[in-house]
Amino acid sequence: MSKKIVIFDTTLRDGEQAPGASLSAQEKLEVAHQLVRLGVDVIEAGFPISSLGDFDSVEQIARKVKGATICGLARSLNKDIEAAANALKPAKRKRIHVFLATSKIHMKYKLKKAESEILKIAESAVKYARKFSADVQFSPEDASRTERDFLYRVIERVIKAGATTVNIPDTVGFAQPDEFGGLIQAIINNVPNVNKAVIAVHCHNDLGLAVANSLAAIHSGAGQVECTINGIGERAGNAALEEIVLSMRTRKDHFENIYTDINTKEIYKTSRLVSKLTGFVVAPNKAIVGGNAFRHESGIHQDGVLKKRQTYEIISPEDVGFYGEGLVLGKHSGRHALSQRLEQIGFKLNKVQLQNAFIRFKELADKKKEVFEEDLMSIVEEQMKDVPEVWSLVGLDFCGGIGVEPKATLWLKKSEKIFKKTSSGDGPVDACYKAIEKITGIKAKLLDYSIQAITRGKDALGEVNVKLKINQEEIVARAASTDIIEASAKAYLKGINMVLFKAKKAKLIRL
Ligand code: KIV
Ligand code: ZN
Repeated sequence: MSKKIVIFDTTLRDGEQAPGASLSAQEKLEVAHQLVRLGVDVIEAGFPISSLGDFDSVEQIARKVKGATICGLARSLNKDIEAAANALKPAKRKRIHVFLATSKIHMKYKLKKAESEILKIAESAVKYARKFSADVQFSPEDASRTERDFLYRVIERVIKAGATTVNIPDTVGFAQPDEFGGLIQAIINNVPNVNKAVIAVHCHNDLGLAVANSLAAIHSGAGQVECTINGIGERAGNAALEEIVLSMRTRKDHFENIYTDINTKEIYKTSRLVSKLTGFVVAPNKAIVGGNAFRHESGIHQDGVLKKRQTYEIISPEDVGFYGEGLVLGKHSGRHALSQRLEQIGFKLNKVQLQNAFIRFKELADKKKEVFEEDLMSIVEEQMKDVPEVWSLVGLDFCGGIGVEPKATLWLKKSEKIFKKTSSGDGPVDACYKAIEKITGIKAKLLDYSIQAITRGKDALGEVNVKLKINQEEIVARAASTDIIEASAKAYLKGINMVLFKAKKAKLIRL
């Protein structure tokens, strides 16, 4: 009989703990909806006690997102468990995830508690969580560095107390695949009541082994795997969902009789969404979702692929929702063709969004001979973001060069009025940003800036990601254009518009 591996996604909790990856409640909701389309079983939406913002965001996801179990994290403290229970109240299916460190180093230095105390705290935390939810997960933090016999005792005790899932974290990414697989096997062999709970794994990537360790654990009998989109997470990150799922799917001969409910065709879109909202650019050589994952450069490889695709391709790009760099549409394509192509790649736009996307598409097709799928995605993502353009860019002129002072003149529109300012700066981008500041009167600190070509060729769209700090708020924004200075200005303006929109929603200002 086939066994289902439960996919527990922690992009919104552990993933969001990655330095610099903070998401707004609205963005988390958007990701949660996409995770449901992707088919994950459990969404760890946040750590409700950690901040009011986290509490509200878990509550909102619990209220609005249907189709997956919504989970909230809690330390083994009553106040944490209550916060998680309250935030999860509206969820149709909910899970409380309690954790407590069990390794010697954590017990001695961090918790300053003896084994006997840890056992009692873990037991009573699980019992308390069970008062609020029938689905309770317990994690012995730093399990891979915990004394084996003590770990077995902890697991037995929490299962007896009512834990329905016991998660084995490799918290510091210390384990090696054969060792970690062996640990899961040993737990299954040595914990007497182990069959009363699902054994899960949660691996970090400090040594680059998170996916390998997770797969070794699945091979040894783990029933749930915890992972994040694009592998984002604390320090070097968590195990990447797309890599784990595609390994199991591609190597059915190795992972016999197991399956997941993931709709792999949603992988690429989910990866892009998370990248866009966090501002974490996916490395070109990243497995499954990197820009080069399906590119064949060497002549021998290209020849092989043309003769038989499987010579050098073990996954077909369409299976992960990536339709390659094939020519999608050209200058003469009409609205109907655009809408059909967009539907094919999974975007359903309303009339207004389609009209705006069509205008952008025509502008782009005029500049670029060929419009690829990635270009279309970038255009559509812009249209789907429901942030009104308070300030829009209507004109841009810049100059610079060796020995020439960089200067930019910008024309911005607000409520049908055009404003123009010129500024110099350290480079054309800096000059643009200074001119924007002069016009809008909004001071933004540029925390991060990156640029990437979406497709190849001299006429490729350049996609700029910026992270801004405006007042106390950090905002990530992205914009694309064939002109990188224009993309830079648009991304910056988008960040400003996002802050203004949020402030308006919070009734702090009138736009
Ligand atoms: O890495 C870890 O140990 C965790 C736990 C809270 C599961 O994230
Ligand atoms: Zn973790």
